[in-house]
Amino acid sequence: MKFETIGIVGAGQMGIGIAQACATAGLDVMLNDVDASALTRSVDRLSASFDRLVSKGKITSGEAAGAMTRVHAAPKLGAFAACDVLIEAATENVRIKQQILQGLDAVANPDAIVATNTSSVSITKLAATLADPSRFVGMHFFNPVPAMALVEVIRGMQTSDATFDATVVLAERLGKSAIQVKNAPGFVVNRILVPMINEAVFVLQEGCAGAEEIDAGMRLGANHPMGPLALADLIGLDTVLSIMEVIHRDLNDTKYRPAPLLREMVDAGCLGRKTKQGFYSY
Ligand code: CAA
Repeated sequence: MKFETIGIVGAGQMGIGIAQACATAGLDVMLNDVDASALTRSVDRLSASFDRLVSKGKITSGEAAGAMTRVHAAPKLGAFAACDVLIEAATENVRIKQQILQGLDAVANPDAIVATNTSSVSITKLAATLADPSRFVGMHFFNPVPAMALVEVIRGMQTSDATFDATVVLAERLGKSAIQVKNAPGFVVNRILVPMINEAVFVLQEGCAGAEEIDAGMRLGANHPMGPLALADLIGLDTVLSIMEVIHRDLNDTKYRPAPLLREMVDAGCLGRKTKQGFYSY
């Protein structure tokens, strides 16, 4: 399977990060978002991210400029007909993802792989949106994508071996290590990581310690690169909540109940870095 052009739907922090990884690996990228002005801002953010790498001496200005010439804003999905792989990286809402996948299915090359970067929705369920679910696969990146070495490649019930194996090759082409995962609530990493974050919110809400103490505890006592509450702010509290809700519902086990404080913060619109207020202010 050839990988030359990758289409990405959703130009939020994950979509931009995936675009950066693809362009750095020499692939052409078509980047789409429902919000045209957000799309323009995202391309600017991507350019700024390459500029930071230049200023840190990680890449040359020629390499940054070369990577940016491979990134194309694609306000219409029609442009995705030329893509070898399509990656849905929109918000964690099943209906929105299904609508996007239907739109992609209508324009995609019949041989293209269609992937989702969902952090919580069932791959098998999303695959059912496509005429040919064997071409559908989970490709779960981690935030911040340029800094994180892992991609979970997730096999839905009907994912073909050819689709799965080609997706592992693509992840490696992007410089990532792939782990092979069977579709299940939270997959592997979020099933372990997000309940840990949720527990940190319980510890905060019960007044055992303040946010900074909890985070320092896990940084210094467990050698985590950042504390669980700071990580929740990075991921987005709405995403953390939706992952907990899926794990709780699908495993039907009360030990995965979302912390009430997490839900309240999401209700208040305090979603972490993206709203400039979460467990910390930004
Ligand atoms: N965007 C792009 N690159 C970034 C970045 C960002 N927002 N933040 C950091 N980086 C890069 C830096 O450019 C730097 O790269 P180089 O080494 O090539 O220079 C590297 O990351 C390290 O950055 P810093 O030295 O500035 O900062 P740090 O050493 O404190 O590391 C961190 C920052 C990588 C975010 C680190 O704190 C970390 O690993 N935190 C944990 C992140 C994590 O657990 N992510 C998974 C979240 S779960 C998820 O994403 C799945 C889901 O479905 C919810």
